[in-house]
Amino acid sequence: MSDIVVAVDGPAGSGKSSVSKEAARRLGYAYLDTGAAYRALAWHCLDEGVDVENPDAVLERVRAFDYATGMDPDRYYVRVGGEDITPDIREPRVSAVVSAVARVPEVRQSLNAMFRRLMDEHPAPGVIVEGRDITTIVAPDAPVRILLTASEEARIARRSAEVSAQTTEATAQQLASRDRQDSRVVDFMTAAPGVIPLDSTDIDFEQTVQALIDTVRSGIPHD
Ligand code: CDP
Ligand code: CDP
Repeated sequence: MSDIVVAVDGPAGSGKSSVSKEAARRLGYAYLDTGAAYRALAWHCLDEGVDVENPDAVLERVRAFDYATGMDPDRYYVRVGGEDITPDIREPRVSAVVSAVARVPEVRQSLNAMFRRLMDEHPAPGVIVEGRDITTIVAPDAPVRILLTASEEARIARRSAEVSAQTTEATAQQLASRDRQDSRVVDFMTAAPGVIPLDSTDIDFEQTVQALIDTVRSGIPHD
C-alpha cells in the first residue's frame, strides 16, 4: 500500500508525464501514467480493427484488456497481451482516436478500478498518479493534489518539438481538438477546491520538477 498519493492532472503538453516521472524518481516514489492505459486501449482497438466510435465494441475490448505497466519510473513500460507497445501509444494515429475510447463511461469505470488497484498494491513509500481526473474522481482524497497547466502556445511548442514528422499547425490542431473532446468528459482546466494550481508556462522542465517536489513536500502531513 502506498502511503502518499500525489494526484496530478492537466491538459496535453502541460508536462504531466515527464515532470511526474522525474519527480517520482527523485522522491523514490512509484509513478502511474493513467493516460497510457487509455492510449493502450485505443492502440489495441486499432490493432484489432475495432470501430472506436462504437462504444459497445470498445467495451467488449476493455473487459478482456490484458494491460500491464511499469510503475518504477526507471522501468516504465506499457504492454498489451505481453507485447511492449511503449513508443507505439504516442503515435498521432493513437492520439487521434483516444478521446473516443475515453468518453465511454463504462471504460472509465473499468480503468479507474484498475488504477485504484495499482495505486494500492504498489510497495513504494508514495506514488504520483497523473491524468485528467485523478484529483477529482480517481483519488479525490489524495493528500497532495496538483493541477499542472501551461498556456496553449507553450503546450503546442512542447508537443511540436516531440512530434517532428508533422507541421506545428497539424500538431496544434490535434492538441486543441483532443483537449476539446476530453473537456466534455472531465474538467481538467480549472483546479477543483483544494487542488493546487501549478503553471509551467514560464518555467523550464527542471524548475517544474522542483516546483512539484516542493509542493509534494509541503503538502505531506507530518507526524
Ligand atoms: O500526454 P497527453 O496529455 O497528450 O495525453 P495522455 O495523458 O497520455 O492521455 C491520453 C488521453 O487519455 C487523453 O487525451 C484523454 O482522452 C485520456 N485520459 C483520460 O480520459 N483520463 C485520464 N485520467 C487520462 C487520460
Ligand atoms: O504529459 P503531458 O502531455 O502533460 O506533457 P509531457 O509529455 O510530459 O511534456 C511535453 C514536453 O514538454 C516534454 O518534452 C517536456 O520535457 C516538456 N516540458 C517543458 O519543456 N517545460 C516544462 N516546464 C515542462 C515540460
